[in-house]
Amino acid sequence: MAAAGVDDSAVIATNDDAASCKRFAVQQGYWKDPYIQHLVRPGERKAPEINRGYYARTQGVGQLLDQFLQLTNCQCQVVSLGAGFETTYWRLKDEGLLPRGYFEVDFPAVTSRKCHYIRSRPPLSKPLTEGGGQLQIEGGTLHCSNYHILSGDLRNTEELNASLTTAGIDKSLPTLFVTECVLVYLTPDQSSKLVRWAADNFPTAMFVNYEQVNMKDKFGQVMVENLKTRHCHLAGVDLCADAESQKQRFLSVGWEGGDLLDMWTVYHSLPQQDVQRIERLEFLDEVELLQQLLQHYCITWAWKDPTGLGLSNLGFGRPSPLM
Ligand SMILES: C[S@@+](CC[C@H](N)C(=O)[O-])C[C@H]1O[C@@H](n2cnc3c(N)ncnc32)[C@H](O)[C@@H]1O
Repeated sequence: MAAAGVDDSAVIATNDDAASCKRFAVQQGYWKDPYIQHLVRPGERKAPEINRGYYARTQGVGQLLDQFLQLTNCQCQVVSLGAGFETTYWRLKDEGLLPRGYFEVDFPAVTSRKCHYIRSRPPLSKPLTEGGGQLQIEGGTLHCSNYHILSGDLRNTEELNASLTTAGIDKSLPTLFVTECVLVYLTPDQSSKLVRWAADNFPTAMFVNYEQVNMKDKFGQVMVENLKTRHCHLAGVDLCADAESQKQRFLSVGWEGGDLLDMWTVYHSLPQQDVQRIERLEFLDEVELLQQLLQHYCITWAWKDPTGLGLSNLGFGRPSPLM
């Protein structure tokens, strides 16, 4: 697949930032992830608001993912687009929740580094070969029983389709697409094309998207300006204008239904005993700042469920279907 252009370097660098923030939060005890330390060096100290934001993000996205896996009894696939250095595959393996296929796609500059770390660090590679599985790594591509890392450009859906097909994706299986802070880097046309491709090709599917929302207000505009000074252009920010634009992104291209919560609401919908635990980890000076920050991010989820699996029942604040 095509290599990233020079203009993509700032977008590629956002992965280092996300991985480093996740590592710091893990180090502080926000959640457990014994794998992230093997993918990124320790970074600078992050503010408590940032750590709580990452906590809400990983727990929120993780909750929808786990509900999907439980509902389908793991007879499903997960496709993480713009996966960066996510460690979800290892977590699911440790928790006995692996789907039939787990696929990740990112630019070659990102996947080749991830593959290199996996190849050279046994805590990452060992779990992949347990049970005698063969680990095949070539450049930025990895195949290993049910785990596939593919390099590609999400703006090219034809090539994305071809590389997932070659890797053995089964379009008849229920499939969950995850994009965590990714679609905002594509123009509205590019992300619509991607989201439409997913709807057109996978009859039973769910899409979970985490990113900015309410970006038209003052706080949102300041966020955009701050990122610009770091040469990071949010090409898709128009679709992050409000809840309606986020939802319509899916409903206008073939998704049957969709829902959305801002991260402040997600934060309050997470298991409150754990939220109380993390709130004791670090003193937070300005709750208003955390609230403003979290109200400018959201999780949107959309579904297509022609056989009535119950995908529309997944979400927050409701008991998960098999519990
Ligand atoms: C902010 S990082 C998030 C990484 C990961 N999803 C996480 O939450 O830790 C955004 C990721 O999207 C990837 N990305 C953005 N645009 C892409 C494109 N057109 N094709 C492939 N990957 C892309 C970047 O390379 C980067 O790894």
